[in-house]
Amino acid sequence: MHTVKAIYPGTFDPLTNGHLDLIARGAKIVDQLVVAILKNSEKGTPLFTVPERVEMITEATRSVGNVSVATFDGLLVDFCKEQGAKAVLRGIRAISDYEYEFQMAMMNRKLDPELETLFMLPAEKYTYVSSRLIKSVFHLGGDVSTLVPPLVVERLKAKAGDHFGRAKTT
Ligand code: PNS
Repeated sequence: MHTVKAIYPGTFDPLTNGHLDLIARGAKIVDQLVVAILKNSEKGTPLFTVPERVEMITEATRSVGNVSVATFDGLLVDFCKEQGAKAVLRGIRAISDYEYEFQMAMMNRKLDPELETLFMLPAEKYTYVSSRLIKSVFHLGGDVSTLVPPLVVERLKAKAGDHFGRAKTT
């Protein structure tokens, strides 16, 4: 039987409802979807550790049967090969995402001509949502509770509590 396994790679610092929307869409069209967190991101110091991110994504995707969570290091094409995955799933929110995504997809194709990149569009209500903006708005006191899963809101609050030396429950 012909089954398709795809990797949905990213930093996920933290997971947003935009990511979750894309995971749900991707899981409908591939047989197995692996959400893969890059361990050594070049994006600077992350807010959440890799194990924290694994936990949050695992919890938030628990109800989707064909989704699993993994971590990877090094080249994405090597990880895909290791996993026996034929495709990479990526979301494009707006034209501004396109150039970066195009370059990555083409570089991955250069590195492994057999690997395909699938692009999907998240729901339009999430087109402006990014992990970077979530962190920034949350730290400035804004309400992000409709843009990330409840567990992520809890964890953001706990981090803020740690940071300011307050009780974790505040
Ligand atoms: O959602 P993000 O944080 O923009 O994801 C970026 C990610 C993890 C997909 C990208 O940085 C990646 O694949 N890194 C692994 C290193 C690699 O394979 N680089 C060459 C391909 S451009």
